[in-house]
Amino acid sequence: MKIIRTIEPAIRAIKQGKLVAIPTETVYGLAAPIDQEASIRKIFEIKNRPSFDPLIVHVSDLDQARSLVLEWPDEAKILTSAFWPGPLTIVLPKKSNISDLITAGLSSVAIRMPRHPLTLELIENLKTPLAAPSANIFGKVSPTTADHVALEFPESDILILDGGPSEVGLESTVVEIKSGKLRILRPGMISKEVMQILLNGLSRKIEIIEEESQASPGHTKSHYQPEKPVIIIPETLLPLSTETKNKIIKSLHLSSSKSLELALDHDPFLCARSLYGNLRKLSDQKPDYIYVIERKDQQTGPWIAIWNRLSKAASLDLRSIPMGSLNAL
Ligand code: TXA
Ligand code: MG
Repeated sequence: MKIIRTIEPAIRAIKQGKLVAIPTETVYGLAAPIDQEASIRKIFEIKNRPSFDPLIVHVSDLDQARSLVLEWPDEAKILTSAFWPGPLTIVLPKKSNISDLITAGLSSVAIRMPRHPLTLELIENLKTPLAAPSANIFGKVSPTTADHVALEFPESDILILDGGPSEVGLESTVVEIKSGKLRILRPGMISKEVMQILLNGLSRKIEIIEEESQASPGHTKSHYQPEKPVIIIPETLLPLSTETKNKIIKSLHLSSSKSLELALDHDPFLCARSLYGNLRKLSDQKPDYIYVIERKDQQTGPWIAIWNRLSKAASLDLRSIPMGSLNAL
């Protein structure tokens, strides 16, 4: 593992078949050109990622994006002209020459144009799109700095292109466009509401549904997990009684109850930017668990994405346990 700050060594390494971690505005990715199957295989190996979980293809211009798919519908035109380069991934029917390794055998491909000058320059120079998942071991917290990537893969023979901290901080919104319907497969900071407003400009009515399902195989129930367990506590349970604390300890098989709060910024965009870094910092202080308080005013727009990640990071979610049943823990 080696950290670099310019694209020239990254270009050389990629041509030699090495993996390069790339900065993006969402999180760092672990990249390989879409036409280098051996390198794509390495991504799955070093991440310990199941082969049924498809990768996002990163492009530097619209022609590249269009060259990957069978159609480029109006919805794609509108959304990409509003949000690219930026934290939006669109899923469309793929051309048959796109490797099944990348798409996990699906007939669609996920594409996005990241908003980071170094990565855009890198893709432009290579003249080939880069397939890249987030640069973390499968199931763990995504990296938002080059140092996070280095900690994740200390022994691996990869280069890390340091482009500074990711400014969005949360993975892109993934939206599938199919037969005039849009399905949000993974919520992100580009919310359903803003996409709906833009699409209302089309004469036909477009329906956007939120549905994380089998259609996006990476959406396993637990994901984004830091080293220490995360617990979600509804506001209504505060202050925590000793009894509740003891039950938490028991249900997570902990030996004591040193806990730290993950405080969320009141602005969702600032909150997202520091979320993963804060989870890592809190874990480093070695508490028995980390808790985060659910607030009723954080349930729309970009907050949906933040709470989607927190729900998956959580080992215990007291929102889903009726108060009276805490005894059953
Ligand atoms: O912001 C991001 O999207 C970051 C940066 C690096 O671009 N990437 C990222 O990749 O989060 P990854 O692999 O950690 O998550 C990609 C998600 C997975 O849940 C995967 O299942 C879904 O996108 N996906 C990829 N291709 C798909 C397809 N053809 N159909 C449905 N879902 C797909
Ligand atoms: Mg990921």
